[in-house]
Amino acid sequence: MQQSKDLCLKVNKKMGEKIRKILINMNLFDDARKIISENDYIIIPILRYPSEEELDIIKNIAEVEIIDMELPSHKKRFKNLIEVLDGRLPPYLLTLLPRSYDIIGDIGVIEDLSDELLPYKEIIGKALMELHSNLKTVLLKVEKVSGKYRLPKYEVIAGEEKYTTIHTEYGIKLKVDLQKAYYSPRLATEHNRVASQVKDGEVVVDMFSGIGPFALHIAKRVFAKVYAIDINPDAVNLIKENIKINKIKGEIIPLCGDVRSFSDLLKRKADRVIMNLPGEAMEYIDLALNFIKENGGVIHFYAFSKDIEETKTHLISKLSTRKLDIINMKKVREVSPREWQIVIDLFVIP
Ligand SMILES: C[S@@+](CC[C@H](N)C(=O)[O-])C[C@H]1O[C@@H](n2cnc3c(N)ncnc32)[C@H](O)[C@@H]1O
Repeated sequence: MQQSKDLCLKVNKKMGEKIRKILINMNLFDDARKIISENDYIIIPILRYPSEEELDIIKNIAEVEIIDMELPSHKKRFKNLIEVLDGRLPPYLLTLLPRSYDIIGDIGVIEDLSDELLPYKEIIGKALMELHSNLKTVLLKVEKVSGKYRLPKYEVIAGEEKYTTIHTEYGIKLKVDLQKAYYSPRLATEHNRVASQVKDGEVVVDMFSGIGPFALHIAKRVFAKVYAIDINPDAVNLIKENIKINKIKGEIIPLCGDVRSFSDLLKRKADRVIMNLPGEAMEYIDLALNFIKENGGVIHFYAFSKDIEETKTHLISKLSTRKLDIINMKKVREVSPREWQIVIDLFVIP
């Protein structure tokens, strides 16, 4: 049987897709090389010369010609960092490679590297760029989220020095500046979950809105009014930019300052309050209650917790309300071994 790395099958374009599928079924299609088109024909790479029987089947469907032609090859596709770095790192280190990392627009973010991997950080950064060809830069988190603005510190380990990008969550464009304002793509499902509960006409107070993902998800879906508050002026500037780059139905009112300073302005105004400052939300629960309308509303309360029941009991003990119903509670994401960011949704009448 004739073998050639340049073997191809030339077929009229109209029949190309049908023939390609048959070649796949016959294990003849060579997916390492690219299909090209030439006038009315396409040239499909094949792995070997078809048997007489195979050729009969093919020729029954379309007129084909077997030719020798050099075709461009696909770059080898890797599935994960281990595959990219196999042979480039000592084998025992491959097992220590991070299993997860974040892709934020065209920026890759690695949360943590073990001490053994740190001398190889540039190689690992470049490997992540090979794995995701759209990446322009790879950042390594060198200090955990901290301070009033909840900002981590990053080091560039591959690519250009760059911290801003446009990231898309459920079709919503978010301008992000990782150096200046908090953002985590791991909350995308939560942004969407909360937004899916909001009805037309609601007034929502997002007490700690960051660059505005909750507000944007909501205003994209419904005619609601969202007060998006953040103490970090850079975050609020990004909310304003994000409002401009998205088509939204609802209204977003960005407010910059300590959320406590809006206690009079927004007193008894909200049908719904979002409290996404999990480290400190318990301290702000009275304020959230103050925002809720006289006839009641929903609070989405976030916390870090090792025991969700215990956090619920603590939360209930802090609230003196005419009515309190826990609608839902669940783990949102693991933040450290056996510790979770959790959410408790509650309906309250203040
Ligand atoms: C965890 S981030 C919020 C992220 C955002 N909700 C999201 O889903 O991406 C918490 C935000 O609260 C802001 N913040 C902290 N203390 C605040 C306060 N007292 N008043 C208003 N905003 C505050 C921080 O600047 C930060 O942007």
